[in-house]
Amino acid sequence: MQATFVIFGASGDLTSRKLIPALYKLHCKKRLKDGLRVIGFSRSPFTHEEWRKELTATTKKYAGEEFNDATWEEFSANIFYHAGDIGVPGDFDSLGKFLGELEKGAAATRVYYLATAPQFYGPAVEQLGRSGLADESNGPRRVVIEKPFGVDLQSAKELNKIVHSVFSEHQVYRIDHYLGKETVQNLLVLRFANTIFEPVWNRNYIDHVQITVAEEVVVGKRAGYYDTAGVMRDMFQNHLLQLLMITAMEAPFKYEADAVRNEKVKVLHALRSLSPEAVATDTIRGQYQGYADSPEVANGSKTATFAALKLSIDNWRWQGVPFYLRSGKAMSCRTTQIVIQFREPPQRLFSNGASGLCGSNRLIIQVQPSEGIQLHFQTKVPDAGMKLRQTDLDFNYLREFRRPMPEAYERLLLDALEGDASLFARADEVEAAWKVCDPILKAWAEQDAPPLLTYEPGNWGPVECNEWLEAQGRQWFDTC
Ligand code: BG6
Repeated sequence: MQATFVIFGASGDLTSRKLIPALYKLHCKKRLKDGLRVIGFSRSPFTHEEWRKELTATTKKYAGEEFNDATWEEFSANIFYHAGDIGVPGDFDSLGKFLGELEKGAAATRVYYLATAPQFYGPAVEQLGRSGLADESNGPRRVVIEKPFGVDLQSAKELNKIVHSVFSEHQVYRIDHYLGKETVQNLLVLRFANTIFEPVWNRNYIDHVQITVAEEVVVGKRAGYYDTAGVMRDMFQNHLLQLLMITAMEAPFKYEADAVRNEKVKVLHALRSLSPEAVATDTIRGQYQGYADSPEVANGSKTATFAALKLSIDNWRWQGVPFYLRSGKAMSCRTTQIVIQFREPPQRLFSNGASGLCGSNRLIIQVQPSEGIQLHFQTKVPDAGMKLRQTDLDFNYLREFRRPMPEAYERLLLDALEGDASLFARADEVEAAWKVCDPILKAWAEQDAPPLLTYEPGNWGPVECNEWLEAQGRQWFDTC
C-alpha cells in the first residue's frame, strides 16, 4: 500500500536535522517498500520547489557521506509542501484535499508526525479529528508525537485525553528516540536471547545498577525551552526511565508491542515513590557554572542541568538493589552507559586482589558513543605470584560489524510506517513515568533540600555527587 508521511512543524530543526535525513537513508537502503511521499505542513510560505531546495542543502549536511545526488533526486521528487496554520481549521481541510489528490483517492498508510512546539500537539490532533484525517476507512492513520509529552502527570493525562478523543491507542506512537538506538534494543537481545545472564540478573548477584547519560554540550540555543524543562523533564522522565525499564523488566511472553510494554510499565509501577524527605537524601541536583548567564535563562534560575537519583524497585527481582541514575549537560564527555555492578565474591582468597566492589565483576553496556559491551573480571597476572588484575571481554559494534550505526530515527520512522509500536511509549507508560518524576519536581520546587549545587563545566557533575555515592560504599564508574 502506498504511504504518505505528513510532518507538522515542517520548517523546524527536527525536520531538517533528523526526520528528512532518516527517511532519505531508508530510501537509499530500499527499506521503503512501496515508496514514500513526504508532505511538509507549516506556516512558512514555501512552494514545493523551495522546500525541496532547502532540504537538499540540509540533507547534504546531515546525511553526510550517505548523500548522493541521484538517490536524492529520486527521493525528493516525492516531497511536497502545504502551507498552513494549526490554528486555522480550513488549512486542515485543504491539506486533506491535497493528500487525496496526491494519493489519487486510493488506500494509503498515513503517518502524521507532530514535530511542532509541544503546545500545538493537542490542537493539531483536534484538527486532524475534526477534518476527518484520522479516519481509517481508506488505510491506516497513525500519529507520532514527539517529547515532551506533557510537563507533569496532570498535563500528560489531559493530552492523552485529547489524543484518545480522536485516535485509538493503536494509532498513537509516542516517540522516545533512545528506544531507536541499536544498543538499547540490543539490551533486550542480550538479556532475552542468551541464557547466561538471566540467572545472575537479580538481587542475589547484583549490588547495584548505574545509568549515566552524560552530555558535553551546554544548553546553547535551546536555553529558553530548557530553562522551563530542566534535566528531569528533558532527560529523566523519558530517556533515563526507558533505559531503566529495559534493564529491569521481566521477559515479555513474546516480542510484540503490548507484551513488551506491559512488562516495561510494571517496572515503573514498582518504583518506590520518593517522599519529600527521601528526595532530600536520595537525589542530587546541580547547575553548571555559567548556565544562568545564557541568553533566555531567567535571572537567578534554579533549573537543574544535572541530577542524580537513587531509585528502588519494590519487586522480588530487585528488592534491595539501588538503581543510580544521573544525567547532565556540560559534563566531561558525551557518554551513555549502563553499568551492572555485581557483588563481591563471598570470600577473599587472594590477598593481592583488589578488595571491595571495584574489584568485582561489572558488565558495561556502552549505549553511545563507542557502542558495545564489556565484562570486567579478575585475571592472574602471569609470572607474578598470585597477583590479580582486572581485565575484560570486550565487544564493540564497529569492530564486529564494520559499518556505521544507523540513526535512531531511521528505525523508529520505519516502525511507525509499518505499524510496529513496540519501541514507542504507551499512554499508561508516559503517565507512570510522570508519577515517578512529579514528587521529585515538586519537592525541588518547594524545599531547599537537596540544595542546588554548582559544578564546573567539563566535570562529572558536582563533586558532592561523588561523595554522596561514596558515603553509600559505592563509586561512579566514570569513563569517556
Ligand atoms: C533530547 C534532549 O531528547 O535528547 C536533549 O531534549 C538531549 O537535551 C538529547 O541533548 C540527547 O540525545 P542523544 O541522542 O544525543 O543522546
